[in-house]
Amino acid sequence: MRRPLAIALVISASFGLQAKPWSDQTQEQVMNTLTHKFEQGLYSKKGADGCLMCHKKNDKVMAIFDGVHGSQSGHSPMAGLQCEACHGPQGKHNRGGKEPMLDFGANALTSVDAQNSVCMGCHQDAERMSWHASTHNLEEVSCVSCHQVHVAEDPILDKQQQNATCTSCHSEQKMQMHQRSSHPMRWDEMQCSDCHNPHGSLTESSLNEVSVNQTCYSCHADKRGPKLWEHQPVIDNCSNCHTPHGSVNDNLLKARAPLLCQQCHSGNVHASRPYGDSGDSAFTGGGSCLNCHSQIHGSNHPQGKALQR
Ligand code: HEC
Ligand code: HEC
Ligand code: HEC
Ligand code: HEC
Ligand code: HEC
Ligand code: HEC
Ligand code: HEC
Ligand code: HEC
Ligand code: HEC
Ligand code: HEC
Repeated sequence: MRRPLAIALVISASFGLQAKPWSDQTQEQVMNTLTHKFEQGLYSKKGADGCLMCHKKNDKVMAIFDGVHGSQSGHSPMAGLQCEACHGPQGKHNRGGKEPMLDFGANALTSVDAQNSVCMGCHQDAERMSWHASTHNLEEVSCVSCHQVHVAEDPILDKQQQNATCTSCHSEQKMQMHQRSSHPMRWDEMQCSDCHNPHGSLTESSLNEVSVNQTCYSCHADKRGPKLWEHQPVIDNCSNCHTPHGSVNDNLLKARAPLLCQQCHSGNVHASRPYGDSGDSAFTGGGSCLNCHSQIHGSNHPQGKALQR
């Protein structure tokens, strides 16, 4: 009876197809077992060697030794509790693999909180200072929704692959970045993390800098004041006129002039103008208001009060 079972185990383990023996348990049952094992400190004596007796045929498991977490020096897991630094104490799991281990990912039975606290146990630093209050944490996005550790190189740290991972959940931004005007994200020349900290920040929308404008200035330094003649909404917030991810209008504008301008300026600022209201006048045709007010981000010209020069 035993022999065929063992063969089946080896074959399926090597293809990673075997269902977890504890898949029929509720998350509560699994968490109770894990808590008990942690409280009692039921770590194995053999470390990774013991685990690999059963798991070494799984290429994915072995790939951890090709990446940073497989290193045997410094603060690496392998220099300490090894596999159990992440998967928790072995307890009775070595008796046929039936007792739950702390598992990770979309099909895990371990709570997202517990998964994340394992990673944060070693990665609580300046970059993740705001993780706890971040939208991702509150929405139960796990570290391993973005990161992989049983790999030589974590794909999300490759700039060419980041946007695809983010937009696998953020479909609205994916649609926007393919619109007529956008930041060069569709060619992966720019990444979401150029503006956002995926681990959260003190700024709304988890921006890298303390405000929208400071975030924009980090690349568009020419738009930074002070200018002799400022245009109030520009200093106030670039988002008054621009949308960051993409727009059907040129220059990432939320609307086209004159509509853009008329959200704040009344339609009759030029009541005495010699032009008619007809659509093709200098006021509404072509660049519209911008035909004359070309220094829309502010002017340094002595006579630039009306943002014309
Ligand atoms: C006696 C064999 C055996 C030993 C020893 C063993 N395991 Fe397992 N383990 C299993 C079996 C069987 C499964 C369920 C099938 C599978 O996923 O391969 C399993 C599943 C797992 C899973 C869940 C995999 C998933 O699909 O998410 C993790 C994590 C795990 N083991 C980690 C460990 C760690 C860490 C050790 C060492 C501390 C260890 N195992 C020791 C047999 C073993
Ligand atoms: C740095 C934390 C970490 C360490 C150390 C670690 N694992 Fe994992 N393990 C994970 C995560 C996270 C996953 C989910 C898959 C992924 O992200 O790569 C996982 C997945 C697994 C799986 C399921 C693989 C599958 O086929 O889906 C097994 C089995 C496993 N680990 C066993 C081990 C063993 C054995 C060791 C020690 C040699 C080990 N792990 C070391 C974090 C770790
Ligand atoms: C026992 C400590 C420990 C645990 C637990 C741990 N890590 Fe790490 N991790 C490290 C060390 C050490 C490095 C090497 C770089 C460094 O010194 O920060 C590292 C590096 C990384 C890196 C950068 C990788 C690179 O290629 O530069 C990422 C991403 C990462 N870990 C994610 C995770 C995630 C996700 C988890 C939870 C599944 C996790 N870590 C659990 C110790 C740990
Ligand atoms: C929404 C996706 C996402 C989530 C969730 C996420 N990360 Fe990251 N992480 C990234 C990206 C993207 C980078 C690369 C950042 C960059 O290039 O500026 C990164 C970088 C890292 C690094 C290496 C560079 C550094 O910042 O020190 C570590 C370590 C890390 N993450 C750990 C974690 C841990 C721990 C968690 C869970 C608490 C986590 N990450 C959750 C996307 C994510
Ligand atoms: C597993 C799904 C998932 C992945 C992958 C993911 N996110 Fe999110 N993200 C969410 C959810 C859920 C929310 C909250 C609801 C919303 O705003 O869509 C969110 C919210 C955000 C927010 C708004 C934050 C706030 O504080 O208001 C930003 C910014 C963000 N994500 C950036 C990123 C970036 C950058 C990446 C890639 C590095 C990424 N996300 C990957 C699920 C994900
Ligand atoms: C050029 C900078 C920049 C880049 C690059 C960028 N964002 Fe944003 N993102 C912003 C700003 C600024 C906001 C806040 C918008 C506002 O307040 O009007 C924002 C808001 C968000 C929000 C919250 C949206 C909402 O309506 O609340 C999400 C989610 C988001 N970004 C995801 C992403 C993702 C995913 C990527 C990569 C595909 C990305 N961002 C790339 C600047 C950027
Ligand atoms: C990481 C650098 C970076 C950041 C941060 C950044 N941008 Fe950009 N921006 C670029 C690049 C690169 C281009 C493309 C320039 C080109 O094509 O010549 C661009 C182009 C633009 C354009 C012109 C788009 C078009 O269709 O021609 C606007 C408008 C713009 N950015 C506004 C913003 C705003 C608003 C912010 C802040 C929310 C911001 N940018 C943050 C790098 C950045
Ligand atoms: C009052 C509306 C308004 C605000 C606020 C605004 N912009 Fe603009 N921006 C425009 C208009 C209109 C254009 C198109 C200019 C043209 O067609 O000559 C433009 C074009 C741009 C461009 C591309 C052309 C160029 O001049 O380089 C960038 C980059 C840009 N804006 C960045 C910013 C940044 C950064 C902020 C915040 C500091 C900001 N804008 C705030 C209206 C605005
Ligand atoms: C979000 C609101 C807002 C938008 C959109 C906006 N403006 Fe303004 N604009 C202001 C405010 C506020 C002032 C300062 C008014 C004051 O000091 O009395 C101003 C000042 C001006 C002035 C200088 C007036 C003066 O003589 O002091 C001109 C010219 C101007 N805007 C043109 C435009 C044009 C053209 C557009 C469209 C491309 C535009 N504005 C879009 C809010 C806006
Ligand atoms: C043909 C050139 C021209 C066009 C087109 C034009 N303006 Fe002006 N605008 C001016 C001049 C010149 C002044 C300054 C002289 C004055 O005070 O009338 C001015 C002044 C202003 C002022 C300041 C008025 C005040 O009361 O101090 C605002 C606001 C303004 N324009 C908005 C707009 C908007 C919005 C549009 C588009 C609907 C627009 N302009 C189109 C030439 C133009």
